[in-house]
Amino acid sequence: MRRVFLILSMTLLAGVASAREKPRSASSPISDEAVRLRATALLQQMSPEEKSGQLSIHFDFAGFPQISAKVRERVEQGLAGSVLFVSDASSANQLQKGAVEHSRLKIPVLLGFDVVHGLHTIFPVPLAMSASWDPNMVEKAQGMAAAEARAVGIHWTFAPMVDIARDPRWGRMVEGAGEDPYLGSAMAAAQVRGFQGPFIGSPGHVIAGPKHFAGYGAALGGRDYDEVDLSENQLWNVYLPPFKAAVDAGAGNIMSAYMGLNGVPASANRWLLTQVLREAWGFQGFVVTDSGAAESLITHGVANDAQEAAVRALQAGVDMEMVTITKPGVFQSLPAALAAGRISQVELDQAVRRVLEMKIRMGLFENPYVDEAKAAVVFADSAHLEMARIAAERSAVLLRNENRVLPLDIHHIKSLAVIGPLADSPRDMLGPWVFKQNRPNAISILEAIRARVGKTMRLDYSEGVRMPARLYPSPFQAIEGPHPPKPPLDEAEEIKRAAALAGNADATVLVLGEAQDMIGEQASRSSLELPGRQQELLEAVVASGKPVVVLLMSARPLDLHDTQPAAILDIWYPGSEGGNAVCNLLFGEATPGGKLPFTWLRSAAQAPTFYSHLTSHDPAHANNRYWNESGEPRYPFGYGLSYTQFGYANLHVERPVYAPGESVTLTVDVRNIGQSAGDDVAQVYIHQRHGTSARPVRELKGFQRVTLEPGETRSLRFTLTPDDLRYWSAATRSWLQDETQFDVWVGDSSAAPLSGTFEIRRR
Ligand code: NOJ
Repeated sequence: MRRVFLILSMTLLAGVASAREKPRSASSPISDEAVRLRATALLQQMSPEEKSGQLSIHFDFAGFPQISAKVRERVEQGLAGSVLFVSDASSANQLQKGAVEHSRLKIPVLLGFDVVHGLHTIFPVPLAMSASWDPNMVEKAQGMAAAEARAVGIHWTFAPMVDIARDPRWGRMVEGAGEDPYLGSAMAAAQVRGFQGPFIGSPGHVIAGPKHFAGYGAALGGRDYDEVDLSENQLWNVYLPPFKAAVDAGAGNIMSAYMGLNGVPASANRWLLTQVLREAWGFQGFVVTDSGAAESLITHGVANDAQEAAVRALQAGVDMEMVTITKPGVFQSLPAALAAGRISQVELDQAVRRVLEMKIRMGLFENPYVDEAKAAVVFADSAHLEMARIAAERSAVLLRNENRVLPLDIHHIKSLAVIGPLADSPRDMLGPWVFKQNRPNAISILEAIRARVGKTMRLDYSEGVRMPARLYPSPFQAIEGPHPPKPPLDEAEEIKRAAALAGNADATVLVLGEAQDMIGEQASRSSLELPGRQQELLEAVVASGKPVVVLLMSARPLDLHDTQPAAILDIWYPGSEGGNAVCNLLFGEATPGGKLPFTWLRSAAQAPTFYSHLTSHDPAHANNRYWNESGEPRYPFGYGLSYTQFGYANLHVERPVYAPGESVTLTVDVRNIGQSAGDDVAQVYIHQRHGTSARPVRELKGFQRVTLEPGETRSLRFTLTPDDLRYWSAATRSWLQDETQFDVWVGDSSAAPLSGTFEIRRR
């Protein structure tokens, strides 16, 4: 053992693999023992400054996307072990060269990036992909995103975002899977598998970093970064499960959130980062703070100075801080904290080891560089664009379709009006977290329609109205690029012109919603109304009396009041292939089968409202939540129409009674009772009638997306595991399974009527 260790450490100094070390095949992970030995050998050579250097990830917006000289300098000095926002192979190699040729210990740099829904090929935004209720598809899409990222030298993505969001005023709802912990957990695990592949270090894959641990989505009033106060009940049963699923799927990293959780900032929260994450869940990877979140412990008022902030974060369980070069962070003071005895050598080394081990697992010591010619080849893979199109088609949610106006009848429609401020805006198709230097050309909906039917139909276009400017400009323009400037528009006149075009056309496609910078980080909103004068435009166009198909680009429910266009199709921010996907959906080459991953509120005043609420005192009146308007949402969670119809029958719970710890099995028949093929998502909801704690009126516990031909019936089988029937009770402060009765419903939304029962009882 000792000899091996000496050989390894000499080898590392020379920066090449030992002749005695068995070469690692890329198809299998490096052994835990080899990882440990290599990290130990390195640790023994490191100064406290080099150690703290490994514990920071730096970025510099100045000159973005070029890498800044300051960042490069820190890497060469061995004082920045990780860098974010490098996204081209040549910059990645340059930085890597600085690390492996110029830094004293030649430790490669770990490159992180927000690959949230694609890098070059842009998939629909994560909330949209969640609306597909198709975790396999999401896994494949994120696998392709990982391949593109790895091809440019990125090793780690700050994704998936697995924050549950129950208040659509919060802009970052777009990045997650919506309101439900069961769907959220399925999407979290699928994305981790997609990004990371079968093991950390799999070729063409990256480390996944689920974020923002934890509770970020419950920001007060939906205001981004605001404090979060969550009961244990909410945390364990709602907000933590997607993180647990991501950890169980093997996530190599976790990002700690910005905000305070129950008065203790997440990035100084030892209960969260150590007791829950490591001790209860056995997380083996490394924890990074969100940007500047260690330093902001001073702002939060839980640390007096930089050193105290660093000590608190490290001792809570943070391994790495994310910092901008202009504010180099607080972990720089760790060597002084060590000298002063405020942290132990063991505490410091443990964090450094976690980071080094991840670099070793990723194979960076053997292969620090990327082949600069490869990115173009990976980007050009036609399978990626095809996946982007399929993902956009499978994500779309049909909210309304009166008189079956959709799909549009290509043989009878001779003229089509295409209207709206988002109808001809390629930039908006892509959504947030798309960086200007990688941005491919997306085509707009107008361009796609023109290419598809421009020769067979008369097409008239009007922008209608302009998107208003945000009151506070988006801080992401530097990396996402600004929206191109436009000449002034007389909106009153244009609305009239648009209404006239609609009146003269056989049908109208009206594209409304929010621009891509009206959603996302620092993009919370106090209203769910259509921004600007879009509602006026909608009403004028609908008043034309002709069939109007509204395509909504949004990632939150929008309030169209009681306007009743013939059809509403939510296409979210559909990505690189959004234009083609939308055409396929409009003209019947594809059928919508997505379902809402959140409850569609009528107005912001209803927030938060979610389907999985408790029955409280006097439900008859509580459900009538306001005296001035109904408490009912516009559309329930899990809702979405198709061009065909489905019927559910024969719900059969295999036995009436099960013992605690047994799995419950049920079967149900779903039948396509319409005239065309289509997809439906069969959803299983349960309700525990009585027990130690009150449980939600309905909770999703299973789903399957199926494709059925007209007249086809499929018998589906669902298994409810003991875990599905357990919950965390604030009465006992533990996980438990009650002996009790359950209701169960199966159907294609959270309002599914088909029901059954079963009982859990010791026999
Ligand atoms: C701040 C965001 O909250 C986080 O999600 C992101 O990964 C980092 N910035 C880096 O861009």
